[in-house]
Amino acid sequence: MKPIQVGLLGIGTVGSGTFSVLQRNQEEIRRRAGRGIEIAMVADLDMTRAKQVVGDAAKVVGDAREIIANPDIDVVVELIGGYGIAKALVLEAIAAGKHVVTANKALLAVHGTEIFKAAAEKGVIVAYEAAVAGGIPIIKALREGLTANSIQWVAGIINGTTNFILSEMRDKGLDFDVVLKEAQALGYAEADPTFDIEGVDAAHKATLMSAIAFGIPVQFDKAYVEGITKLSGADIRYAEQLGYRIKLLGITKRADKGIELRVHPSLVPAKRLIANVEGAMNAVVVHGDAVGTTLYYGKGAGSEPTASAVIADLVDIARLHGADLAHSVPPLAFQSNTLGAAGKELPVLPMAEVVTSYYLRIRVADEAGVLAKITGILANAGISIDAVLQREADEVGGEGSTQTDLIILTHDTREGDMDQALAEIQALPTVLAPITRIRKEELN
Ligand code: NDP
Ligand code: HSE
Repeated sequence: MKPIQVGLLGIGTVGSGTFSVLQRNQEEIRRRAGRGIEIAMVADLDMTRAKQVVGDAAKVVGDAREIIANPDIDVVVELIGGYGIAKALVLEAIAAGKHVVTANKALLAVHGTEIFKAAAEKGVIVAYEAAVAGGIPIIKALREGLTANSIQWVAGIINGTTNFILSEMRDKGLDFDVVLKEAQALGYAEADPTFDIEGVDAAHKATLMSAIAFGIPVQFDKAYVEGITKLSGADIRYAEQLGYRIKLLGITKRADKGIELRVHPSLVPAKRLIANVEGAMNAVVVHGDAVGTTLYYGKGAGSEPTASAVIADLVDIARLHGADLAHSVPPLAFQSNTLGAAGKELPVLPMAEVVTSYYLRIRVADEAGVLAKITGILANAGISIDAVLQREADEVGGEGSTQTDLIILTHDTREGDMDQALAEIQALPTVLAPITRIRKEELN
């Protein structure tokens, strides 16, 4: 059978990995796919660099639309990133009747509904394994392997850059800015690294997993997003002393009134496997009613790990190209005509309705009755305390200090109730600095 013809848009970190892995493993990939997969054309703004990567093996062009206009190209692989030109090119490729593979979680989390609809109308595939957790086949696992289950929750370390930063800060005591630069040099970070450190990239990925896990539309605008920029070394240390590690988690959960969809730093018990995922590694824990808890671990970023997922999509497409797609796996796991109704029955909950437990660090005047006042406010709000740790004033503020840190761990409570209690505590004259609140996930 004639090799399937691929056009690559963007040959940066992931594009160059895709090119070299396909070249290196082409014979095994051909035996798996049942036909060859050939990158016939490559488009990049920097044609000189692109030519250095591909040599004479593919035609290099500066204008991506030349690829879309070529009737010989069967599949367009979009590895440019962002919502701008990438969106236009993906929609134009679909309109031209080409299958699309993309690693662009930002694009799908925000414009997925429009893109999947256009693809269904045109009878082409939009595949995106690389968009979530890089090389880990989590889309396939959620969409196919766990299809028997009613998924209860998914929680993951799904941003390599922030996990790398948190690990290096904890282990080597390095500064945030130094480690961020290292992550950029290693090719983990997004073109705009604020997407990584402010939790936006993880929220894009959590949004996609939420849609696949619960059969609802992609709704990035409803996700709660909080990054790691406000975390202090003190909290990382206190968490350790209490038997926890702080990780940036993407969480989506089935609750009584709807679906939780949130990204924020979380205390995770140090004994959990996921708490020990270090560096740029990713891990996703999925809890299904039939299977119980399953864990997926691997490289969530980088050139060849991400290429591994891009090529897996190409193999799927090579097998399906020319077949009736009506019976293929739906892009969001559930039949698309069921998504709208499910979205209404299972709304994404506002953060005030989320139920979780908390770590609080409260800087207080070191005087009698302060702890009693604070615990009294929590009790009045119906918030039950799990543990309290009071630091020595000298340890916190130096010798002779009159301030100290109170660390309080709570049991599960509604976020809205916690907001009210914290506003009351913050107003106490003996509370001397903004309260730190980090959510705590037991993941059991
Ligand atoms: P890079 O910035 O390394 O590569 C993007 C490439 O696209 C660059 O070579 C860029 O050229 C080129 N480009 C930009 N605009 C155009 C255009 N209009 N036409 C053709 N080429 C263009 O990004 P990555 O490879 O890191 O990321 C690609 C996608 O994969 C993104 O969506 C990203 O979120 C996603 N992803 C990345 C991972 C990673 O580990 N890096 C992991 C998982 C997903 P120039 O440099 O000259 O601007
Ligand atoms: N910037 C992303 C990360 C790349 O650090 O995880 C992988 O999606």
